Amino acid sequence: MHTSPNGHIPANVPHDRVVDVDVYLPPLAAELGFHQAWARLQADHPAVVWSPRNEGHWIALSGEALREVQSDPERFSSRVIILPKSVGEGHGLIPTTIDPPEHRPFRVLLNANLNPATVRGLDNSIRATAVELIEGFRAAGYCDFSADFAELFPIRVFMAMVGLPSDAAPMIRHWASCMTRPAMPMTFEEAKQTFFDWLGPIVDERRADPGDDMLSRMLAADMEGRTLSRDEALRLCTQVLIAGVDTVVNFVGFVMVELAGSPALRSQLIAMEGNLIPAVNELFRRFGLVTIAREVRADIEFHGAQLKAGDMICIPTQVHGLDATLNPDPLTIDFSRRRAPHSAFGSGPHMCPGQELARKEVAIMLEEWLRRIPDFALADDADVSPVAGIVGSLRRVTLRWVV
Ligand code: HEM
Repeated sequence: MHTSPNGHIPANVPHDRVVDVDVYLPPLAAELGFHQAWARLQADHPAVVWSPRNEGHWIALSGEALREVQSDPERFSSRVIILPKSVGEGHGLIPTTIDPPEHRPFRVLLNANLNPATVRGLDNSIRATAVELIEGFRAAGYCDFSADFAELFPIRVFMAMVGLPSDAAPMIRHWASCMTRPAMPMTFEEAKQTFFDWLGPIVDERRADPGDDMLSRMLAADMEGRTLSRDEALRLCTQVLIAGVDTVVNFVGFVMVELAGSPALRSQLIAMEGNLIPAVNELFRRFGLVTIAREVRADIEFHGAQLKAGDMICIPTQVHGLDATLNPDPLTIDFSRRRAPHSAFGSGPHMCPGQELARKEVAIMLEEWLRRIPDFALADDADVSPVAGIVGSLRRVTLRWVV
């Protein structure tokens, strides 16, 4: 990812649609906060704008434009979903970069392994992981939430699901970060290759001698008369890893910063113990955080803009839930909202197959945390400035409480 403007405005882009936005760290994010900065951009500009950064691309800023782009693979292809396009071309993970109908069999496979019944079966292990981590620091009255909880929790759940050794979690977490953030020690390509080199022999073993884990099940599954090839298995598994880990890690960071500053929200959640999923939905509406893109298939007019075949259009999923025309007073968290529209998990054919698991992880984590640490605040050494990336993130979430 690089973020300097290239200065070139193509002929199909009128000057009143040009806004200088680095979508991985929008203007004013440091001053206002990540979501507030996106809400401001949305309020001040038309539904579809052009940014000269990251090689130049459109941005769907209104909730409706964003939903349309995500839901319409006929007009907007997933062939390239990462900006800038020259980097996204080499992404090659599946099923994110495959359009329907070829996308379908991969989704059937993922859905079979991440459906509500399967996720229900993970309840106890998710809860045990959350409790063990929280109990590890509860008596200290302080934790580096990012390092001591968020970075360990979803990856341990993931490692247990796919039957991989938990001591490899920090290494895998590091590779996943290199695949989603600029200025990391490895490029996307290097990190992906390193992960493939590590996972390849494990895939071979599981195929020869399957276990009772998600990886073995996916390798053995019938995919319309065939099984996954080795290369497909590596690309699919890498996608599940980066989609399922970095997202939850950073999402819970945003949530805990909000709760640290709001005793009222904490009390409401405590009162809802055992039935947190509707409240978790509202948190996902408020704290969407994945910024991806689509490639325009043919010349079209879209919300008054002339898009050309091959143009990229960014879909910052967070803007849908923050659209004041769809969700009144969108920055306020209101657990009584019902069916508030948002795209934290996307929409259309690529809509997140892990959303059931993500909601469950967050609900269980909040329940176990608030049961043990009902009152907490940001610690003095917290640094909640936003960090650039495909997945929105805060630099350092540290928390304190009285023991
Ligand atoms: C905070 C939690 C999460 C958020 C916000 C999130 C968000 C998203 C979004 C926006 C997409 C759509 C991508 C696109 O349209 O190109 C997506 C796809 C995906 N997510 Fe999630 N996700 C989360 C958790 C998870 C978890 C826990 C898993 C699995 C363990 C997972 C697995 C996937 C996969 C495999 C895809 C690709 C689906 C496809 O291309 O058909 N996600 N996610």
